Amino acid sequence: MKNLKLKVNASKRLSHINREIYGHFSEHLGRCIYNGIFVGKDSAIPNTNGVRNDVIEAFKKISVPVLRWPGGCFADEYHWKDGIGELSERKKMVNTHWGAVTEDNSFGTHEFMDLCEILGCEPYIAANLGSGTVQEMSEWVEYMTCADDTPMANLRRKNGREHPWKLKYIGIGNESWGCGGNMRPEYYADLYRQYQTYCRNYNSNQLYKVACGPNADDYSWTEKLLDSVKHWHTSAISLHYYTIPTGDWSHKGDAVDFDEKEYYQTILSTLKMKELIERHSEIMDKYDPEKRIGLIVDEWGCWYDVEKGTNPGFLYQQNSMRDALVAAINLNIFNEHSDRVVMANLAQAVNVLQSLILTEGEKMVLTPTYHIFDMFSCHQDNDLLESDCDNFEVAYKDISIPGISKSVSVDENGDIIVTLANCAMNESVQFNIEFECFEPKAAHGRILQSERINDCNDFETPDRVKPETFDKIKLKGTAVSFELPALSVVSIRLSK
Ligand code: AHR
Repeated sequence: MKNLKLKVNASKRLSHINREIYGHFSEHLGRCIYNGIFVGKDSAIPNTNGVRNDVIEAFKKISVPVLRWPGGCFADEYHWKDGIGELSERKKMVNTHWGAVTEDNSFGTHEFMDLCEILGCEPYIAANLGSGTVQEMSEWVEYMTCADDTPMANLRRKNGREHPWKLKYIGIGNESWGCGGNMRPEYYADLYRQYQTYCRNYNSNQLYKVACGPNADDYSWTEKLLDSVKHWHTSAISLHYYTIPTGDWSHKGDAVDFDEKEYYQTILSTLKMKELIERHSEIMDKYDPEKRIGLIVDEWGCWYDVEKGTNPGFLYQQNSMRDALVAAINLNIFNEHSDRVVMANLAQAVNVLQSLILTEGEKMVLTPTYHIFDMFSCHQDNDLLESDCDNFEVAYKDISIPGISKSVSVDENGDIIVTLANCAMNESVQFNIEFECFEPKAAHGRILQSERINDCNDFETPDRVKPETFDKIKLKGTAVSFELPALSVVSIRLSK
């Protein structure tokens, strides 16, 4: 068994871990919104204003801090006025991006903003720059946030909402280099400057404007974008990166039926997130050394071949213990780069890609990925601590990855949170944590592991993969020790 040391300096706070790093994404795609989140007021499935109560409860348990909507690619085809007013009078459209199904617009601005209020989370609106007008975007902001006697505020009142909602996060377009208009960075940057100008701060509402950043390793996009938008009310730029096991979009690999090689390829592909954040941050440091502009990873997660027998445009996939490890690695990376990464949004919340939740009729299942968010939510709003971990290489044929992923933070009461993932398939690790300036008096841990890396939760066996208490932690002065099993994730709270 490997013997590894993790050194933590409790007096060295490096950066603040914004709660929004634990954010989510809900698109009008497949069964994410309809049937997944929203079933309508008349449904037999218990709901609040049409939103499933089981989903509300699950979201609340992991303290969802921010929810991005309505897309994705859908955002740049979405015309918000189609989704307000009397249900029977709302326009229908075809969701051309996702399965060519009819979108009846029954989930619109009121339904989304009210849901965020129920959840106590920040809404993050992805506004249409690809096919919408400047006026349309400008009026949407007015509709949602203006308290005065204006046409859009009065329209909102007519539709039953007297007071404006609070809206902070607004994305000006989505993937403008791709589905959002296939633009060049220079062209997009000019449009960003124009569109954002008319997104006004009404009354006390202050917008946090997000410019469309790069696709994965498109460093040239970041460079050109920042050069042009850095002085134009840009609070953050986005980054999209998905884990594709095979690296081949035409054959991405199966969500459940994968072998050892594909497992290690998946972890390797996930670890690329660190390199992407660091290299984009280097460019950002050049244009914005004071770190005024944040980096928002507003789409991340595993993207596999769509589940056989389901609509290919719905992007439905199962979620296994492998996804749990991927989620843990990404969240640890975001924590450790929280000096620049201010928000991240898993794609997507329900029934699409690396979901938190799967639904089938009235049934609901929490995925292994959900449990990671549950175990890691105690990092929200903490400070990242300086920590240094021994590691070891795991090699499979020509693939080599570091076995351990970690991050350490301190909360407002001085408790220290350690999250670790052991990605090795066959090697457990004896862990020794040594603290500087901290002596833990109590330890409470949770562990997520499963017999097989392919194990999933399904509607027949919803609790096959679920966290257990991790009580094998020994405390001695400033030292903490325990055994970390192969293919496991732990979250440990150490109290003074
Ligand atoms: O999350 C699915 C899709 O992936 C989003 O609609 C788009 O932004 C990205 O390409």
